[in-house]
Amino acid sequence: MTPANSLFREILDSPDRDRCPGSRDLISFREDEPAEFLGELKRAATSMVELVRRGQWHGRWAEVSGKPHSSRKREHRSRWRHGRPLVYPGSFSEPELRRSAKDSLTRYEQIQNSGGLSGWIEPRLGPTDKSPAIGSGSGSGSGSKSGVRYEVSATRQEFPPSSFDGGPPSDSNGDDRDLARIFISARGSDGHVAASPADDTADTAAVAGANPVDPIADLWIKLGRLSNHPDDRSRRLRFGFGREIQDDGRRDERRLRHLTQIALASLPEFRLFHGHQDLRERIRYLSDSDFLPTEPIVYWNSENGGARFHHDAFSDDADNPGRQIGVAFLQVSGRTAWLALSISDLADRVTEFMELLLEGAAPWLNEALLSDKGKRKQMQRFLINRAELLTELAEPGCGRLGPLVDCGPEFTSLLADAGHGLLLNAGDVLLLPNHGYTRTAMHSVFSASTDISCGLSVALRAV
Ligand SMILES: [Fe+2]
Repeated sequence: MTPANSLFREILDSPDRDRCPGSRDLISFREDEPAEFLGELKRAATSMVELVRRGQWHGRWAEVSGKPHSSRKREHRSRWRHGRPLVYPGSFSEPELRRSAKDSLTRYEQIQNSGGLSGWIEPRLGPTDKSPAIGSGSGSGSGSKSGVRYEVSATRQEFPPSSFDGGPPSDSNGDDRDLARIFISARGSDGHVAASPADDTADTAAVAGANPVDPIADLWIKLGRLSNHPDDRSRRLRFGFGREIQDDGRRDERRLRHLTQIALASLPEFRLFHGHQDLRERIRYLSDSDFLPTEPIVYWNSENGGARFHHDAFSDDADNPGRQIGVAFLQVSGRTAWLALSISDLADRVTEFMELLLEGAAPWLNEALLSDKGKRKQMQRFLINRAELLTELAEPGCGRLGPLVDCGPEFTSLLADAGHGLLLNAGDVLLLPNHGYTRTAMHSVFSASTDISCGLSVALRAV
């Protein structure tokens, strides 16, 4: 065995390396590493990728195994409970995905034109008895039973984005990445719409009313950028209801079911996911609960695109009914690179990295992250107080640890070599379980395609 090969094996065989079921082995590398190591690595590589997000270089990865890790079902369940990711590779075949991928790319172009969002959705809305039936779960909200019709009730679409008016002032989260939003009403058979999206009081009254046939007018679809970086053409299309932030995670099964219906009528990739009985059975087994796939977000990732480290959990959702149990991501076309691990594992890796920095490794990072006395003291406090470290990582953008976890190739490579890097190809499904802030899957995304890639994220709500 050559020294290069032994180093290569040393990384892959490390006992504390994560081996996410369904993922393939990958390791990070630099072009200035010893020629012998690079030669060995390149011969073994089935695929290589360079990671750049919003102008920040994050290094290179080589996938060195064509065979996904496998493990027993019991281990899958344990990972789910601990908020660790799981991959189901090749859940959909290329011919199955072809129509969805084409539709998604056409949609990407169409909805960015002025008026494009309503022009795209309007022909797809209508009486719900024309749309595919909801597959499973109990509860109210079946459109076909109540004769509900979906209609675009208000459009807020302004360009350039600085003039975006996403709704009433109380509803706006002031995000300058927002591009356009439409509101959709669910009309009862008498054509009446009870609540106006602009009328917060009326809306609250409608929500509070327990009558399951009350019409609803605060469903929405929003188009936004993923960043304001000039070279990032990524977009996301989010399906939601009510007020952003305040109503995120609200357990309103009726509205969630309406969103599912609208997604079934408008997104072929959501129909594919929704109809995959085997996948749904697996998620039921993992979570021990029935669930509703809803609140889709379509992602189009371009070069320089992706998402910084975050989680998708809500503060109060551990072990409560109606909560979000996780998020599933389906790669529809192209490829994305991910870092995905439980918040607890991330805390371990941050601790490891911080100790290295404090010992003097990567002086330029030490300077950027720890030169300020106050910051250094705070980082040292995180090292001795794990609860504080976990709380900080659960903050939006990982709070004061954001600059560290998204700093660049040093930490990204450390995570990849610890087994937390994933490459998703078309047809792969990634599950990101969440059980409140302390047991959730943290994730960070990079584009791994030269063209726009398409993906679909689906919230899994216990019902
Ligand atoms: Fe996410």
